[in-house]
Amino acid sequence: MNLKFLIVLLVFAITSSQASFESQIIDFLEELRMRMCHPIPNLGMPALDPFQIPEHHEIAVDNKYFVDFIGSIDDFFLHGLSDFKINDLNIYTVPLRRSTINVTFPLTWFQTLYSAKGSLAYIVNLAGDGNAEASITDFTFSFSWILKSGIHLGIRGLQIEMYLGGLNVDFQNLLEEERINEFIHALINELGVELLDDIWTYEQDVVVAWVETRINNFIGQYTLADIIKIIAGGGGEGGESKPIFDGVEPDCKLSED
Ligand SMILES: *[C@@H]1O[C@H](CO)[C@@H](O)[C@H](O)[C@H]1NC(C)=O
Repeated sequence: MNLKFLIVLLVFAITSSQASFESQIIDFLEELRMRMCHPIPNLGMPALDPFQIPEHHEIAVDNKYFVDFIGSIDDFFLHGLSDFKINDLNIYTVPLRRSTINVTFPLTWFQTLYSAKGSLAYIVNLAGDGNAEASITDFTFSFSWILKSGIHLGIRGLQIEMYLGGLNVDFQNLLEEERINEFIHALINELGVELLDDIWTYEQDVVVAWVETRINNFIGQYTLADIIKIIAGGGGEGGESKPIFDGVEPDCKLSED
């Protein structure tokens, strides 16, 4: 038999199963999107849109980035996570090839009750409580990684790129003095994107290493076959494994266009 023909056949087999794996992931994410307003017990996920933290939480930031305060949040809601747009998806299940996913969240925002006491840069006193809202437009992130070889899953060479379209915050009564309050809000809303960009530039290595470790700790429990089963199971095929979305209605987007 012709060796070239065999190689072409092999490449074809790899790339075609490749494309169907990616379309399975996209189908899975679409199925997920329709259900993100409910908890999904088989994935161990709480409702994600809106995502709610009803309990009271204390937060203490001790002298980091010039911020020194104690505060709390109550009744925290995050909206918009299910509006994700997949810009790009290339998943390689063979080692050495770099996989990519690029996602945009057009509008995410949170609202919460908050309290804060402390100081910014030891200059401005924080003594606020009330409603807090913040929104982010066009948050795009791109993850890329290489699959490690081995039975259990693992990744290496993680790269993360982020882009923030816009940021708007509104913390009611954050600062005692009205004019400083307005000034600080204007400053954050004007410079916030650049400021976050700077923090990201300086802290990127630490964050990426942390994320990679977390991902490996999590996916290291699974083999590729397990993951394919989970994702393919979402498509509603019968078989012996329990469908992943069992009992969760796909009704979260019905009121929208
Ligand atoms: C992600 O996708 C957006 C929209 O298509 C694009 O503008 C951006 O450059 C991509 N980012 C990366 C790192 O590929």
